[in-house]
Amino acid sequence: MCGIVGYTGAKSAIELLLDSLEMLEHRGYDSVGIGCVEDNKGMVGIQKCVGRVHDLRKECEKQPMHSTCGIGHTRWATHGGVYTKNAHPHQCGKVTLVHNGIVENYRELTEDYELQGKLRSETDTEVVAALLDRYYQGDAEEAIKRVVQKLKGTFALVMMFEEEPGTIYAIRNVSPIVAAECERGMMLASDLTALGNFTKKYFVVPEYCVLKMTKDKMVITNLDGEGVEPQMQVLDWKVSGLGKEGYPFYMEKEIMEQPNVFAETIKRRIFKGMPDFSADGLSDDVLMSCKRICIVACGTAMHVGLITQALVKSILHMHIDVELASEFMYSDPVLDKDTLVIAVSQSGETVDTLEAFKYAKKCGATCLSVLNVRGSSISRVSDYVLYTEAGPEIAVASTKAYTTQLAVMYLMVAKMAFLRGALSEEETKAYIQELQNVPSKMEEILDRKKEIHVIAKEVLESKDLFMIGRGMDYSILLEGSLKLKEVSYIHSEAYASGELKHGPIALITEHTPVVALVTQGRIMSKELSNIKEVKARGANVVLFIKEKLATQLKEDYNVVTLPDLEDKFMVFPAIVALQLLAYYVSSDKGFDVDKPRNLAKVVTVE
Ligand code: G6P
Repeated sequence: MCGIVGYTGAKSAIELLLDSLEMLEHRGYDSVGIGCVEDNKGMVGIQKCVGRVHDLRKECEKQPMHSTCGIGHTRWATHGGVYTKNAHPHQCGKVTLVHNGIVENYRELTEDYELQGKLRSETDTEVVAALLDRYYQGDAEEAIKRVVQKLKGTFALVMMFEEEPGTIYAIRNVSPIVAAECERGMMLASDLTALGNFTKKYFVVPEYCVLKMTKDKMVITNLDGEGVEPQMQVLDWKVSGLGKEGYPFYMEKEIMEQPNVFAETIKRRIFKGMPDFSADGLSDDVLMSCKRICIVACGTAMHVGLITQALVKSILHMHIDVELASEFMYSDPVLDKDTLVIAVSQSGETVDTLEAFKYAKKCGATCLSVLNVRGSSISRVSDYVLYTEAGPEIAVASTKAYTTQLAVMYLMVAKMAFLRGALSEEETKAYIQELQNVPSKMEEILDRKKEIHVIAKEVLESKDLFMIGRGMDYSILLEGSLKLKEVSYIHSEAYASGELKHGPIALITEHTPVVALVTQGRIMSKELSNIKEVKARGANVVLFIKEKLATQLKEDYNVVTLPDLEDKFMVFPAIVALQLLAYYVSSDKGFDVDKPRNLAKVVTVE
């Protein structure tokens, strides 16, 4: 996690660093800091505080300083609490440093090199600063090379050395650093979001290579001291000029965008009514030849995997696993060249997903990713990439990424089903037609958002809540429940309705809120029996149900009807309704919907 930025050039550094850090707050917003070389003095001045970039901006205004070279950091706390002393940059002797990642052996290093007396914070990062200072004898590159070979874990380190004002060094393992020569000077950052306003051309700093950035040039050398040519890339992705467009929060704006971005995502992949991935460079052979599928992802993206699994099983009757990326490598996965491993990720930076994917690649599997952010780390290790057209997603709680990732997955299943003879041409076209109906059904539920706002009052005051459903409804609720817990802080648990009587029903008492979802005709009667069981024990049931199935139930429960689509496609109106529920609960409680406590949008620590 954590956002990093660095600048050296002829212009003023402080405003630029602060503006760039603001664009990196999706990586963490516990604390923030900058370290800048004071013009004419050559000393590095540090300003840092707990809170957000706008808090630091105020601090900086109180003590103005002139600088044309500096580094900055926005923190998501791992080692050490959320205190100013743990905020980056860390300074030790002649070294000033910011870090993203985790140095796993920081305790051993502290003991082995007797660094305890030098440390003022509780962070793993400061240990690296102290070690660098220990090894620094006037040759920064030499010190960096010696130190990184001692580090275990993932890291992106950006450093300044007092004797070289105007120079910034960087090195990384796994955690990304991108760099660019811009009109204003030389810049680097933990992700492209921070560079997009300044340049369209950039390069990714290769792992275990030292980047030396001075005001007029950048030089990369590997650990053997050999020069390395950067591989220039072009950013074809809009990162700037984003506003809330009149909405109070990005989350609401992004929920409302879903019909459009969904339509955009499928539009260019449908040709003559049939799914078509030729523009993505994905050959039929890839989809034909695999014998099994394995999806790796985290959070919301993993929930996309669960819906895809239900679809693949029912239409393709194929073997498919969905794995939490963080568990994947340690669960001895069975992979071979006949396995198609699909990584799903909005950011393309989630380190667990990235590492799982690399592992799969090493095992010989074909690696396909479904991503939103262009040029991200996962895209760079993929054999094939399918991009969603969600556009930048700013709110921490993912909404439009989920539905657009599903859009790609639904198309891919259609393509595979046709290629493998599981669906005829006519059936495939009917399926695609239903997919094209999704945006208008999402519009329908969005047009009724006030109704969901009213229903949200039913759960507003709850501490605990259950969400129950079966089959695909259960998978949808896992995502609905995640949305509610992350933005409203209500303890919400999604449960397969049939499992309630094996334990959790003991927690149902008078007025316990239960959100039930019924969209699957073939299991409706069983779902309704389970809902009756909780109702009989006093639960306050809010029922989200497909319009066609709702006929006689309206009197018995607080009901929200969902626009009709074929059962397999009901995830789309259902999740939009649940996203709105979470959103309204959070905003009615007065929370910062877009930046819930303890969370970050891009998760780059394991
Ligand atoms: C974080 C975000 C979630 C997201 C998950 C995976 O936890 O807050 O919204 O689902 O990471 O992120 P990815 O970028 O890989 O989709």
